[in-house]
Amino acid sequence: MQIAIGSDHAGYSLKQTIKGCLSEMGHTYEDFGCYDSGSVDYPDIAFAVADAVANGRFNQGILICGTGIGMSMVANKVPGIRAAICHNTFSARRAREHTNANVLCIGGRIVGEGVVREVITTYLGAEFIGGRHARRLEKLHAREQRDT
Ligand code: RB5
Repeated sequence: MQIAIGSDHAGYSLKQTIKGCLSEMGHTYEDFGCYDSGSVDYPDIAFAVADAVANGRFNQGILICGTGIGMSMVANKVPGIRAAICHNTFSARRAREHTNANVLCIGGRIVGEGVVREVITTYLGAEFIGGRHARRLEKLHAREQRDT
């Protein structure tokens, strides 16, 4: 899978861990920053990753800030993006199966290496199951198109 990944300073350390996990799992990624632990503004990174996923260059995005909240708020402003905050495997599986999430948001100040490894594995291994869930997403995107 081709993955766009990014973090702010609060997510920088966990992003390094996640990149190692992705390589171990055989995925390829592009890092959209930040590139050290100096302070940055999460919208700059979130928009870059979300745009790269929305325009089809990448299958999935992963965004890490302190809580995952700011990153998810910004990413979900980009048409076509369905960003989900997941800090456990139940959420990670449902994010893909039910809501066909295409950006995973994680709080670097919330979870550690063991949890994030399982979350990433579960999220990337799950698939959208369609059916009634497709109908619900159609409603979401119909509203999105009306407003853009
Ligand atoms: C940065 O201090 C912090 O506000 C940011 O990483 C994120 O948690 C916002 O949601």
